[in-house]
Amino acid sequence: MKTRDLLLVIAGIALVAFLWAAPEETTPHLPRDTTHAPYLTLFQQEGKKAAEAFCKDCHGQPGMEFPPEHPDPNRCLFCHKATP
Ligand code: HEC
Ligand code: HEC
Repeated sequence: MKTRDLLLVIAGIALVAFLWAAPEETTPHLPRDTTHAPYLTLFQQEGKKAAEAFCKDCHGQPGMEFPPEHPDPNRCLFCHKATP
Protein backbone atom coordinates (compact mmCIF):
# COMPACT_ATOMS: atom_id res chain seq x y z
CA MET A 1 0.00 0.00 0.00
CA LYS A 2 1.29 3.45 -0.83
CA THR A 3 1.85 5.96 1.96
CA ARG A 4 -0.79 8.21 0.39
CA ASP A 5 -3.41 5.46 0.49
CA LEU A 6 -2.57 4.73 4.09
CA LEU A 7 -2.99 8.40 5.00
CA LEU A 8 -6.40 8.45 3.27
CA VAL A 9 -7.53 5.44 5.30
CA ILE A 10 -6.35 7.08 8.52
CA ALA A 11 -8.10 10.33 7.62
CA GLY A 12 -11.30 8.39 6.88
CA ILE A 13 -11.21 6.60 10.22
CA ALA A 14 -10.52 9.87 12.04
CA LEU A 15 -13.49 11.54 10.31
CA VAL A 16 -15.90 8.73 11.17
CA ALA A 17 -14.66 8.68 14.77
CA PHE A 18 -15.13 12.44 14.99
CA LEU A 19 -18.68 12.42 13.61
CA TRP A 20 -19.53 9.47 15.81
CA ALA A 21 -18.29 11.09 18.98
CA ALA A 22 -19.14 14.76 18.45
CA PRO A 23 -22.93 14.96 19.10
CA GLU A 24 -22.78 12.79 22.22
CA GLU A 25 -19.90 14.75 23.65
CA THR A 26 -21.30 18.26 23.28
CA THR A 27 -25.05 18.01 23.81
CA PRO A 28 -26.14 17.41 27.40
CA HIS A 29 -28.76 14.68 27.82
CA LEU A 30 -32.12 15.18 29.49
CA PRO A 31 -31.06 15.25 33.16
CA ARG A 32 -31.93 12.19 35.24
CA ASP A 33 -33.23 14.10 38.26
CA THR A 34 -36.55 14.57 40.02
CA THR A 35 -37.24 17.78 38.06
CA HIS A 36 -37.11 15.95 34.75
CA ALA A 37 -38.41 12.52 35.79
CA PRO A 38 -42.05 13.27 34.77
CA TYR A 39 -40.91 14.24 31.25
CA LEU A 40 -38.86 11.07 30.90
CA THR A 41 -41.97 9.07 31.77
CA LEU A 42 -44.08 11.12 29.36
CA PHE A 43 -41.49 10.60 26.61
CA GLN A 44 -41.48 6.84 27.19
CA GLN A 45 -45.27 6.60 27.19
CA GLU A 46 -46.36 9.19 24.63
CA GLY A 47 -43.24 10.17 22.71
CA LYS A 48 -41.01 13.18 22.18
CA LYS A 49 -43.64 15.75 21.21
CA ALA A 50 -45.77 15.14 24.29
CA ALA A 51 -42.80 15.66 26.60
CA GLU A 52 -41.39 18.64 24.70
CA ALA A 53 -44.60 20.59 25.23
CA PHE A 54 -43.47 21.26 28.80
CA CYS A 55 -39.78 22.13 28.41
CA LYS A 56 -40.44 25.79 27.74
CA ASP A 57 -42.46 26.13 30.96
CA CYS A 58 -39.02 26.52 32.55
CA HIS A 59 -36.37 26.75 29.84
CA GLY A 60 -36.25 30.05 28.00
CA GLN A 61 -38.17 31.81 30.78
CA PRO A 62 -36.63 34.84 32.56
CA GLY A 63 -33.81 33.56 34.72
CA MET A 64 -33.45 30.41 32.59
CA GLU A 65 -32.65 31.86 29.19
CA PHE A 66 -30.98 29.71 26.58
CA PRO A 67 -27.30 30.48 26.02
CA PRO A 68 -26.86 32.91 23.09
CA GLU A 69 -25.17 30.21 20.97
CA HIS A 70 -27.98 27.70 21.60
CA PRO A 71 -29.56 26.37 18.38
CA ASP A 72 -33.20 27.10 17.58
CA PRO A 73 -34.86 25.70 20.70
CA ASN A 74 -37.58 23.46 19.32
CA ARG A 75 -37.80 19.67 19.30
CA CYS A 76 -35.60 19.54 22.39
CA LEU A 77 -35.39 15.77 22.55
CA PHE A 78 -33.93 15.34 19.08
CA CYS A 79 -30.74 16.88 20.44
CA HIS A 80 -31.06 16.34 24.19
CA LYS A 81 -31.46 12.57 24.29
CA ALA A 82 -33.75 11.23 26.99
CA THR A 83 -31.96 7.87 26.96
CA PRO A 84 -28.43 7.47 28.35
C1 HEC B 1 -40.01 22.41 36.07
C2 HEC B 1 -39.01 23.14 35.30
C3 HEC B 1 -38.29 22.38 34.18
C4 HEC B 1 -38.88 21.75 33.11
C5 HEC B 1 -40.35 21.64 32.75
C6 HEC B 1 -37.78 21.22 32.31
N1 HEC B 1 -36.59 21.52 32.90
FE1 HEC B 1 -34.73 21.09 32.15
N2 HEC B 1 -33.86 21.97 33.74
C7 HEC B 1 -34.53 22.57 34.81
C8 HEC B 1 -33.56 23.03 35.77
C9 HEC B 1 -33.89 23.75 37.09
C10 HEC B 1 -32.28 22.68 35.27
C11 HEC B 1 -30.92 22.92 35.87
C12 HEC B 1 -30.66 21.96 37.01
C13 HEC B 1 -30.76 20.53 36.59
O1 HEC B 1 -29.87 20.02 35.88
O2 HEC B 1 -31.77 19.87 36.96
C14 HEC B 1 -32.49 22.03 33.99
C15 HEC B 1 -31.49 21.57 33.18
C16 HEC B 1 -31.69 21.01 31.91
C17 HEC B 1 -30.64 20.64 30.99
C18 HEC B 1 -29.16 20.88 31.19
C19 HEC B 1 -28.44 19.66 31.67
C20 HEC B 1 -26.98 19.93 31.72
O3 HEC B 1 -26.25 18.94 31.90
O4 HEC B 1 -26.54 21.08 31.55
C21 HEC B 1 -31.23 20.11 29.88
C22 HEC B 1 -30.57 19.58 28.64
C23 HEC B 1 -32.65 20.15 30.11
N3 HEC B 1 -32.90 20.69 31.35
C24 HEC B 1 -33.60 19.73 29.20
C25 HEC B 1 -34.96 19.76 29.41
C26 HEC B 1 -35.92 19.24 28.47
C27 HEC B 1 -35.57 18.61 27.12
C28 HEC B 1 -37.15 19.44 29.00
C29 HEC B 1 -38.50 19.02 28.42
C30 HEC B 1 -38.67 17.57 28.20
C31 HEC B 1 -36.95 20.10 30.30
N4 HEC B 1 -35.62 20.25 30.50
C32 HEC B 1 -37.98 20.50 31.14
C33 HEC B 1 -35.91 22.73 34.91
C34 HEC B 1 -36.85 22.23 34.04
C1 HEC C 1 -30.48 21.47 17.30
C2 HEC C 1 -30.15 20.86 18.58
C3 HEC C 1 -30.79 21.40 19.85
C4 HEC C 1 -32.14 21.60 20.11
C5 HEC C 1 -33.31 21.40 19.16
C6 HEC C 1 -32.22 22.03 21.48
N1 HEC C 1 -30.96 22.10 22.03
FE1 HEC C 1 -30.49 22.62 23.95
N2 HEC C 1 -28.49 22.51 23.52
C7 HEC C 1 -27.97 22.06 22.34
C8 HEC C 1 -26.51 22.07 22.43
C9 HEC C 1 -25.55 21.65 21.31
C10 HEC C 1 -26.20 22.55 23.72
C11 HEC C 1 -24.82 22.78 24.30
C12 HEC C 1 -24.47 24.24 24.08
C13 HEC C 1 -23.24 24.62 24.81
O1 HEC C 1 -22.83 23.90 25.74
O2 HEC C 1 -22.71 25.68 24.48
C14 HEC C 1 -27.47 22.80 24.39
C15 HEC C 1 -27.59 23.26 25.69
C16 HEC C 1 -28.78 23.29 26.40
C17 HEC C 1 -28.92 23.56 27.81
C18 HEC C 1 -27.79 23.86 28.76
C19 HEC C 1 -27.58 25.35 28.74
C20 HEC C 1 -26.52 25.81 29.67
O3 HEC C 1 -26.67 26.92 30.19
O4 HEC C 1 -25.53 25.07 29.86
C21 HEC C 1 -30.24 23.49 28.13
C22 HEC C 1 -30.88 23.71 29.48
C23 HEC C 1 -30.95 23.19 26.91
N3 HEC C 1 -30.04 23.08 25.87
C24 HEC C 1 -32.32 23.04 26.83
C25 HEC C 1 -33.03 22.85 25.64
C26 HEC C 1 -34.48 22.83 25.57
C27 HEC C 1 -35.42 22.95 26.74
C28 HEC C 1 -34.80 22.66 24.24
C29 HEC C 1 -36.20 22.65 23.60
C30 HEC C 1 -37.07 23.81 23.91
C31 HEC C 1 -33.54 22.55 23.49
N4 HEC C 1 -32.50 22.68 24.39
C32 HEC C 1 -33.42 22.32 22.13
C33 HEC C 1 -28.67 21.64 21.23
C34 HEC C 1 -30.07 21.73 21.06
